[in-house]
Amino acid sequence: MDRIRIRGGTPLAGTIAIGGAKNAALPLMAAGLLTDERLVLHNVPRLADIDTMAHLLATLGVSVERRDNDGRQLAIGGTITCTEAPYDIVRKMRASVLVLGPLVARCGEARVSLPGGCAIGTRPIDLHLKGLAQMGASITLEGGYVHARAPKGLKGERIVFPFVSVGATENLLMAATLAEGETVLANAAREPEIEDLARALVAMGARIDGIGTDRLIIQGVARLHGATHTIIPDRIETGTYACAAAITGGEVVLANAKLDHLGAVVRILREAGVEISEVEGGLSVKRLNGLHGVDVMTEPYPGFPTDMQAQFMALMCVAEGAAMVTETIFENRFMHVPELNRMGARINVHGASAIIRGVPAMSGAPVMATDLRASVSLVLAGLAARGETIVNRVYHLDRGYERIEQKLAACGAEIERIPG
Ligand code: UD1
Repeated sequence: MDRIRIRGGTPLAGTIAIGGAKNAALPLMAAGLLTDERLVLHNVPRLADIDTMAHLLATLGVSVERRDNDGRQLAIGGTITCTEAPYDIVRKMRASVLVLGPLVARCGEARVSLPGGCAIGTRPIDLHLKGLAQMGASITLEGGYVHARAPKGLKGERIVFPFVSVGATENLLMAATLAEGETVLANAAREPEIEDLARALVAMGARIDGIGTDRLIIQGVARLHGATHTIIPDRIETGTYACAAAITGGEVVLANAKLDHLGAVVRILREAGVEISEVEGGLSVKRLNGLHGVDVMTEPYPGFPTDMQAQFMALMCVAEGAAMVTETIFENRFMHVPELNRMGARINVHGASAIIRGVPAMSGAPVMATDLRASVSLVLAGLAARGETIVNRVYHLDRGYERIEQKLAACGAEIERIPG
C-alpha cells in the first residue's frame, strides 16, 4: 500500500489548481441513468471515487466514456441492462446508493446493497428508503440488499425530511424528475452540489423549482434527454489547500476556486488570522502573522461543513489559545484526534466537542487514518510539523484528492509518495 512521506516546515508558495467537485460529480454520474441519451460532464475530477462510480454504471450496462486525454470530460449513456448495485462496489463507496432513486424511477426496480457501517458513524439510508416508499415503491430488505419495486412508476408526494440529508435529497430529487405529478421535498439539503445536480437535471428537461433553497418542487416528466454540464469547483478541496497555506505560514493562489460556496469556511479562516482574497482566476490565501484559536460547529450548508472539520482542527493545533470544534453531523468523526495527539497536539474530546489547546509546534510521526478528510488533516499537520511524517493508507486520500503530493510539492512542500 502506498504511503506519503512529508518533511514539514516549508511555507507553501505557488499556485494550486482546484478540480471539479467530487460530491457534485458522483450524483451527476448517477443522473446519467435517468436517460438513454448522452449526459456529457465537464470538469470531472480524476479520483478513485469517480472510477468506482464509473465501474458501477458499467455494471448496470451504461457506458462511461472519457472524451479527452486528461479524462475530465465524461460521456455517460446507453441502455440499462441490470438494476443491481453489488456489495463489492457499494462497500467501497457509500455514494453508490445514489443509483437507487434513478434506477427505480427509470426501470421500476432496483436492488442495491446496503452500505452498512462506516468509519464515520453508522450512516443509515432510512430517509432515502422512506421517501421512495412514500412515492409508492415497495421496499424489502433481503440478504443485505434493499429491493425497491415500483412497476407502475413512482408518484409525486410531499416529503418532509426530519433532518437534513445530502444523499437522501439527491436520491429523491432524481427519482422525482420521472415520477407522476408533483413532488415537494421540504427541509431539503441546500449544499451547492445539490444545486449543481438540479441545474444539470433542468438542462436534461426536468422541471424543478426552488433550486438553492430547502424546498424543492419537482413536476415529473415522462422522459429526460441528454445534456452537457460543467461541474462546480470543489469547495472542500479549496478549503483544504487554504488550510495548507495557513498551517505552513505560506501564500498560495488557488486557481479556479470561487468564494461563492465557501462563506462559512472563509469567515472562520479569516477570524483565525488567514487572509483570503479574490484574484483573477481564483483565490489568494496567505498567513503572515500568527493564528488564533476559533470555535466552530459543523452544520448543514450554509454552515461550516463537516468535510472541513478535520482540516480546520489540524490548523487549530498550532494556533495561539484554545479552540472548540463541535461535530453535529456525524457521531464518530474524530478519528484524527488520537493521531494528531501522537504528533504533539493537545486535543481532548468531550462527546461531540473537541477542545484544542494550541502548541507552538508539532512533531512528525508515522500516522494512519480511517477516512478521507481525517487522512488529509494528517497531511496538513505533517506539512507544519518538525521532522518526518509518514501517512499510511493513502488510498483514502486518493478517493478525494487528485495528485495531492504533486500539487503540494509544486508549492515547495517536501512531500513524496512511497509506492508500497
Ligand atoms: C454527503 C457527502 C459527505 C458529507 C455529508 C454531509 C457525498 C457523496 N458525500 O454524504 O462528504 O460529509 O454529505 O455534508 O456527497 N442520515 C440518516 N439517514 C439517512 C441519511 C442520512 O440518519 O437516510 C444521517 C447520516 O448518518 C448523517 C447525517 O444524516 O449523520 C447527514 O448525512 P448525509 O447528509 O445524508 O450525508 P451523505 O449524503 O452520506
